[in-house]
Amino acid sequence: MSTIILGIESSCDDTSASIIKNSTILSNVVAGQSVHEDYGGVVPELASRAHQQNIIPVVHKALKDAGVKADEVDAVAFTRGPGLMGSLLVGASFAKGFALARRIPLIEVDHLQAHVLAHFIQEPDSLKAVPSFPFLCLLVSGGNSQIILVKSHLEMEIIGQTIDDAAGEAFDKCAKVMGLPYPGGPLVDKYAQEGNADAFQFSKPRIADYNYSFSGLKTSFLYFLRDQMKVDLDFIQNNTADLCASLQRTIVEILMEKLMKASKETGIREVALAGGVSANSGLRSALAAMVEKRGWKTYIPKLSYTTDNAAMIAITGYYKFLKGEFAGQDAVPYARGK
Ligand code: KG4
Repeated sequence: MSTIILGIESSCDDTSASIIKNSTILSNVVAGQSVHEDYGGVVPELASRAHQQNIIPVVHKALKDAGVKADEVDAVAFTRGPGLMGSLLVGASFAKGFALARRIPLIEVDHLQAHVLAHFIQEPDSLKAVPSFPFLCLLVSGGNSQIILVKSHLEMEIIGQTIDDAAGEAFDKCAKVMGLPYPGGPLVDKYAQEGNADAFQFSKPRIADYNYSFSGLKTSFLYFLRDQMKVDLDFIQNNTADLCASLQRTIVEILMEKLMKASKETGIREVALAGGVSANSGLRSALAAMVEKRGWKTYIPKLSYTTDNAAMIAITGYYKFLKGEFAGQDAVPYARGK
């Protein structure tokens, strides 16, 4: 029997809808929001309003692209949190209305769990290898840095996380100090390709267990630039590539050290990346190197499934559907992690 799930994602500034048939993706439509460009970050009020404008056309397109009629959908899954409350409310309200009108089950999805399950999305024309349980997933995005022990599709344990900034925030905040536009992460990655990663040394945190901290790095980067600019006003312009390469190396080392520790101590060598920062070339090659060095089996998701997308919400919805884990009409979005 095949199951068709409509997934809805609206946690931040992307309105997305996806149709999945069992674990095979049939469509994934994402509408970004250019309205925030002038503000250097996402403005929650504007995001919520843009979601309201986008949601119906995006769902229509997802159904059309998939060649699926609304009455063929078996269940609707939506992001319940974490995210911006005003944004989450738009997706949640739409999903509730759709489920009620079509008399189909409603499924609530945790955005972070969905990032992990993005690894199980299959394309229609090819079957790809998926991680086997248990595996470790390094979830690194603009809002989170976590090491998750994944025991089954729906059983996950966060064994380490940041105590302050996320890895993506470290990239973005340091990029901002260098005068790069938001979000600076991809630009740091780009300039780092041309630079010497050992040109500068920045301090690394000493944090217990599998936890992370990035706020000290941001401060040490800021003070370093301030001191250098006392001598050379154009220090940043003259050293952009080396600064980006050294910064990227430091962030990747911080991430990898804890991931290696977790792998060693749990004995798990199936390791996956998830979240926006998994696009980073330095992190990707550091992970790839572990295949040779420590016999890891690694999994890096397709780029379009690392950023916010509804395909990952739909696949999570599918696994919850199989378990009969449905939500009531009273499911209220949550802004912060559960
Ligand atoms: O998962 P995501 O799309 O959403 C949020 O959590 O908001 O992650 C976005 C984050 C941003 O901080 C962005 O700078 C970072 O991912 N990012 C990167 C790269 N591509 C995106 N950071 C470093 N290198 C990249 N190539």
